[in-house]
Amino acid sequence: MNLRGGRLQKKMDEEAAKFTSSLESDHHIFYADIKCNIAHTRMLAREGIIDEKTAHKIIKVLEELGKEGIKALKLDPSVEDIHMAIEEYVTEKIGEEAGFMHTGKSRNDQVATDLRLALKEKIREIQKELLNFIKVLVRMAEDHKETIMVGYTHLQHAQVTTFAHHLLAYAHAFKRDYERLKDTYKRVDVNPLGSAALTTTSFPINRKLTTRLLGFSDYMENSMDAVSSRDFIAETIFDLSMIAANLSRICEEMILWSTYEFRLIELADEFSSTSSIMPQKKNPDVAEIARARTSNLYSNLMSVLGILKGLPYTYNRDLQEITPHLWDALGTCYDMICIVRRMLSTVKVNSERGFELAVSNFATATDLADAIVMEKKIPFRTAHQIVGRLINHVIKEGLSLLDVNSSLVDKVSEEIIGEKLELDDDIIRRALDPHENVKRRNVPGGPSPRMVEASLKKLEAYVKDELESLK
Ligand code: ARG
Repeated sequence: MNLRGGRLQKKMDEEAAKFTSSLESDHHIFYADIKCNIAHTRMLAREGIIDEKTAHKIIKVLEELGKEGIKALKLDPSVEDIHMAIEEYVTEKIGEEAGFMHTGKSRNDQVATDLRLALKEKIREIQKELLNFIKVLVRMAEDHKETIMVGYTHLQHAQVTTFAHHLLAYAHAFKRDYERLKDTYKRVDVNPLGSAALTTTSFPINRKLTTRLLGFSDYMENSMDAVSSRDFIAETIFDLSMIAANLSRICEEMILWSTYEFRLIELADEFSSTSSIMPQKKNPDVAEIARARTSNLYSNLMSVLGILKGLPYTYNRDLQEITPHLWDALGTCYDMICIVRRMLSTVKVNSERGFELAVSNFATATDLADAIVMEKKIPFRTAHQIVGRLINHVIKEGLSLLDVNSSLVDKVSEEIIGEKLELDDDIIRRALDPHENVKRRNVPGGPSPRMVEASLKKLEAYVKDELESLK
């Protein structure tokens, strides 16, 4: 039996039906809707609300539909949405008895339940991909614990680090993204079913039972909240947007580092494009597209927040317009994680260039100041002044870091504190050596190969445990 012919006598205008239908994106909740209907019907029978035999017939048809797939459904806009299409399918198979499956249920609680069911799986998929990404970063970092590079602040040479340390910075951002999704999952994993249209139902339904049958951790406490809230979608899309932002920053670095000016890395041919006119070109298009696509996710997030802000309680059809943004965001983010991971894993690192940059622009200067403090017990601020002036002098005279020796340091220190420091040349040499710089940063979180190794091991164990927990 159709929804029409009761209150409404006429068929819906064709254009209006098309305009308001959600069928285009409802395929995402096809299986979830079958699951939801089966659980609800089973519960109705178990509580004696509908006949056991009727329930059995309905469930059998629903299970068959699940096996046949969505292609078995008649999906034209006149059926409005997947919920009605499935109900009509069951009606076609067993007749009017199918109508019992909608007892004490509304499409309002049904769609909210379906969305949460489908989203739970999608979140798990993204979580797995994030862990795989961290795995790749850890593997790459293993090979680059001693690969020197400059770390930047303000995009100016700052201090020396290693490529491994930098890769682990990415890894930790993804670890937080992973944990954020894990936390969001808890709020997705609650069951709205039983809320019906908005105030539950006069039938003595068993919400605990459907919650268990559907594998939710609990049911939603307030039925009006259950049918009108979509904050779980906004939150998920924020999480995805943050992942994309982190991916985009990596892409930005890959683009920058593969320039002739940096020459720090080379992207694989498989992840590059060339020009139709300039034969010499090797362009980082994958990274560029990923960088740009990040803003599609932000658009999804803004649209969802925009739809939500003006809605009176409880269900409004506006909520339907939120859903496509969720599927869109999940798809975009998933593709981005996979492609950026694959692109990054093929990157060739130019370690000579990394070292060259580390010694050519005073990135080791902090350690000379530190050495002065340690050796001469003078305040850091004073040492900072001496080294700053020293570098100013070196630049003006067209000298290099290799020309810095004890007598040059003394010349400057006499200017500033009126006395010589008489530092050992060897101490100066070691202070300015990039490898020594990195080794000395043997502080938790730092780039010394020992600390990086410890960090790697921790991450490795974390990924292993979490992958296990997702099985
Ligand atoms: N397609 C609808 C949605 O996604 C299902 C719920 C329809 N409910 C209603 N009262 N029209 O929100």
